[in-house]
Amino acid sequence: MQQFWIDTDTASDDAVALVMALRSPVAQVEGISVVAGNVSLDQCVQNALYTVELCGKDTPVYVGLEKPIMRKLEDASEVHGDDGMGDIGLDLKGRTPATEHAIDVMTECIMSSPGKIRLVTLGPLSNIANALLRTPELAGAVEHCYIMGGAPHMPGNITEVAEFNIWADPEAAHIVAESSMPQTYVGWDASMASAFVTPEQIEEIRAIGTKFSDFAMDIQATILKFMQDFAKMPGFDLPDPLAVAVALDPSIAETKPYSMNVVTGDSLTRGMTVVDFMDVTKKPANVNIVTHIEPADFMKMLKELLG
Ligand code: RIB
Ligand code: CA
Repeated sequence: MQQFWIDTDTASDDAVALVMALRSPVAQVEGISVVAGNVSLDQCVQNALYTVELCGKDTPVYVGLEKPIMRKLEDASEVHGDDGMGDIGLDLKGRTPATEHAIDVMTECIMSSPGKIRLVTLGPLSNIANALLRTPELAGAVEHCYIMGGAPHMPGNITEVAEFNIWADPEAAHIVAESSMPQTYVGWDASMASAFVTPEQIEEIRAIGTKFSDFAMDIQATILKFMQDFAKMPGFDLPDPLAVAVALDPSIAETKPYSMNVVTGDSLTRGMTVVDFMDVTKKPANVNIVTHIEPADFMKMLKELLG
């Protein structure tokens, strides 16, 4: 079994990703750390606890940072719903997370099993950056870090040029990208290309007929309307589930090493992931970027893990 640690700003796509990881026969999820992002930290924690309970697991959920490291939280509730889970009336309150701080436990878990823990990040990188600043040797102890983030090939989804997870805490993303930690980015471009779920596929997934397939589609209610109203696109993409699919089976993704910079600060290009695709700078590669995933490979894994 591959050991995992998952960092998440649990909302409608994160929750599907958690179901996939928790139900995968090849994965042992050692812990889930929560970070503020899509919605408030407290709500993300409750959403994660609800999802773990739905899967019948006792995977510990730890509370992390309630805001980006150098700026206020700007959430994505307009995309995921006020509760982050489609505002469909789920009972998303009153569950109790573990008491230790997420960053302490995540660091201890990784450092106590060097080269063993596969880190998957599904939200802003605030927790990860903080952990790396406190324990720089963490970068060399992680087996690999799969990051849902960035828009190497634009457009962005929160601005013209930036993807939400990177944009929400660009300073944290810069720290992570420069950390020498082995890291692979599953960008929003990959998500739109390989994990877009059409109305027909929504019905195919619902036809699986399990509580997991129903849950996975039900909680997309807000994003489904958002995509229709704003993007004029029927359906929705599943970026975090795509990142988990790659982490569960890296062979489904074509990747390539590149030099990548993250734009920090508050300019028009805040959170932009600037990738040197033509190697014009001759700077050494610091990240891997997913360049292709067959949509059918993702959909097959998604359906299997919702079955
Ligand atoms: O841009 C997509 C990412 O932002 C996903 O992780 C989604 O959950 C939101 O956090
Ligand atoms: Ca997320």
